[in-house]
Amino acid sequence: MSEQSNPPAEGDEPTTLHSYDGIQEYDNPTPRWWDLIFVATIVFAPVYVIYFHAPNQGRTLAGQYEADLAENMRLQFGEIGDLTPDEPTILKYMGEEQWLKVGESTFKANCVSCHGRDAEGVSGPNLTDDYYINVKQIADIAKVVSGGAKNGAMPAWANRLHPNEIVLVSAYVASLRGENLPSKYAGDKGKEIAPWPSVPSQGEQTDGSPAAQ
Ligand code: HEC
Repeated sequence: MSEQSNPPAEGDEPTTLHSYDGIQEYDNPTPRWWDLIFVATIVFAPVYVIYFHAPNQGRTLAGQYEADLAENMRLQFGEIGDLTPDEPTILKYMGEEQWLKVGESTFKANCVSCHGRDAEGVSGPNLTDDYYINVKQIADIAKVVSGGAKNGAMPAWANRLHPNEIVLVSAYVASLRGENLPSKYAGDKGKEIAPWPSVPSQGEQTDGSPAAQ
């Protein structure tokens, strides 16, 4: 072994004592601080996983999104107070574009699996025609949505949706009547019912009192 080459000269530092194809390796372990960071990441990982990804807590990104969404809804609902699920209120909100949009998003999030994207009916009945099973008057929509029907085949939403959401989704559903979309629903579609009372145009007073009480 020659002595002239690259410092540090051989012998100054320990080698790993093995030799592959004549190549030896200095024994330079990773520094202590590096090891500690490595160990720290291992200790940190399960804590992180449990904290953020354990089920049924609100700290996941999705959970925070849900919380923010609910908070946003509360802020919006602050404007309209607590809605009563009665005929004047539902008719009033059928005439209010931006609130119908809230009803539509509730529908898209909860109802399409059975009633179809456009409420045309799949395993739940068509909500766009003049035939109804449990509905005779417009307020019956909110009753069915709150309480469910047919032993839960139509689930009860009273504990899952905000009361205002029930009114707004009912207004949205009521507004779809008359589209008469072709349906995949195979069950009994019920009886033809009388048309809804006319929808007051935006800003017009209704005799009922839809707002906070
Ligand atoms: C799990 C499937 C399912 C989901 C989800 C569902 N529905 Fe239904 N819905 C049904 C079924 C089935 C019926 C028919 C009940 C009957 O035959 O009496 C029904 C009936 C109804 C009716 C009454 C229709 C009529 O003709 O009497 C309305 C209104 C309604 N649903 C609205 C909604 C809304 C709004 C949502 C979302 C918040 C929703 N449904 C979610 C299955 C569902």
